[in-house]
Amino acid sequence: MTKKWRDVNGFYQIYPRSFKDSNGDGVGDLRGVIDKLDYIKGGDNSLGIDAIWFSPFYPSPQADMGYDVADYCDIDPVFGSLDDFKELVEKAHARDIKVMVDFVPNHTSNQHPWFVESQSSKDNDKSDFYVWRDAKTDGSEPNNWLSTFGGSAWQWHEGRQQYYLHTFLKEQPDLNWDNPAVRFEMKKVLRFWLDLGVDGFRADAVRWISKDPELRDDPVAKHYKGKKLPTKFDDLQHKYSRFWDNLFPYLRELTDIVASYPNRIMVFEDYPDENYSTSEQYLGFYGVNPKVSMPFNFEGLNAKFNAKSIGTIVNEFQGMINPDVHTPVYCFSNHDQSRIITRFGGEEQARLIALMQLTLPGLPVVYYGDEIGMSNGPIRFEEIQDKSVFSHGNDESVGRDPERTPMQWTADRNAGFSAAKPWLPVNPNCQNVNVELELNEPDSFLALYRRLLMLRSRYEILRTGEYEPLSDLGKNIFAYARWIGEEQHVFIVLNFNNAKHRVTLPHAGSVLCATHPIDYPDISEDGSVELRPYEGVLVERSKHRLSAK
Ligand code: NOJ
Repeated sequence: MTKKWRDVNGFYQIYPRSFKDSNGDGVGDLRGVIDKLDYIKGGDNSLGIDAIWFSPFYPSPQADMGYDVADYCDIDPVFGSLDDFKELVEKAHARDIKVMVDFVPNHTSNQHPWFVESQSSKDNDKSDFYVWRDAKTDGSEPNNWLSTFGGSAWQWHEGRQQYYLHTFLKEQPDLNWDNPAVRFEMKKVLRFWLDLGVDGFRADAVRWISKDPELRDDPVAKHYKGKKLPTKFDDLQHKYSRFWDNLFPYLRELTDIVASYPNRIMVFEDYPDENYSTSEQYLGFYGVNPKVSMPFNFEGLNAKFNAKSIGTIVNEFQGMINPDVHTPVYCFSNHDQSRIITRFGGEEQARLIALMQLTLPGLPVVYYGDEIGMSNGPIRFEEIQDKSVFSHGNDESVGRDPERTPMQWTADRNAGFSAAKPWLPVNPNCQNVNVELELNEPDSFLALYRRLLMLRSRYEILRTGEYEPLSDLGKNIFAYARWIGEEQHVFIVLNFNNAKHRVTLPHAGSVLCATHPIDYPDISEDGSVELRPYEGVLVERSKHRLSAK
């Protein structure tokens, strides 16, 4: 009954603070998720997705909303308890929903007992668990490395009279992965969750776990013209502070643990890096342990919304990987990025991205709320919760809160998310954008996602079929075929333009799904079809029958 990962139709990212609050404190929690499992899969009105990934729910001071972990093997009381989690896993598995958790290897919270001990002296058991260095003779930082949130990556510590390294907030000291005792402890953490039955991990910010042991200064970025020392993250080329020689060996150690349990995976968070070619980067990560681990593909996050840009990204990526071994994980949104509708310019554009993402090979990831068409929520300055905004005095930005607003379940007060005032304001568009309403609308976003996920579950061709680009259908069209042997063949044709386009498919066929799932365009005998602005279609080639599997 349990699905193999290769048969999983996709996974769903739950940002625990924002999904469903069960106890009326304005913050989402695990019991809230348990209450909504029927929505995820197995009920009459389910989204129908096979796996969930939780952003961190570990004990944490929440300086970076849980990405500052104070205990890797427990649940923060604001989200519930380990018993709640065990119940959740059991109930999820009963519906054949897989459960993935976030694994944050690069840094802990400065409240983690390891750091508390490490900072207490230069010769305690944990003194070498973090990256501590003496000041330069003039008292300045050991090198020029910068925090991703801006400013120096070094924080002076009065007690130890040394600096410690923090790639993210100063409340998130970097672990010293070159210390075997750190790696030993982190592997114990993986085993802890695997033994509880989790099916996989999303591994956070992995590129940083290996750094130049000599701590050489990073070179200034080519575009940096300033005279002063750079303080903005992008002003440096991060050559020595990440992606160092031991990155893949360390990830191999971790994934060997994952591989020692049946049917488990680890997905690496890694963004495109200008220091490396796309193939060097992806094939490097795929090379770690291809049977059980794979990187996200984030190329589409910064893509321009046009057929050339997105088509090139997909075609190059598919051409680079070995489809028999490498699983693509296409990702178009998450808790660090503007919502798809906001970023790509509107609802029609977001529907097109959905149709594309859920008809590409591999294991797609859907960010909670994208399936109902949530857009960025308006956040006033005084409502900002994301501390990364303030860490470098950048108070023009509201940071990442707009894409983290509460899930919109109903049009009621607080969008049915909580009985209390939510931790972030609910987007006022919940009057028109919510689960309850959309379940009853055949042409809603939710209807589109439900249909695509249903097709993806039913038809192996959409998950693992071969990928083949179709060219010459027009400059605003991105199109591809998926096939299995001689027997099964589908086409996906996507119109990236705000104008009608008539295209001729290589063969006639019938529409299995379109961006508006109630209103499919006609395909004539010669394969010609007129696509409306931003319309996409999934077409089954006539004379071929798909086999459900
Ligand atoms: C990536 C996470 O997605 C982001 O939210 C977090 O701030 C950093 N890693 C640090 O853990």
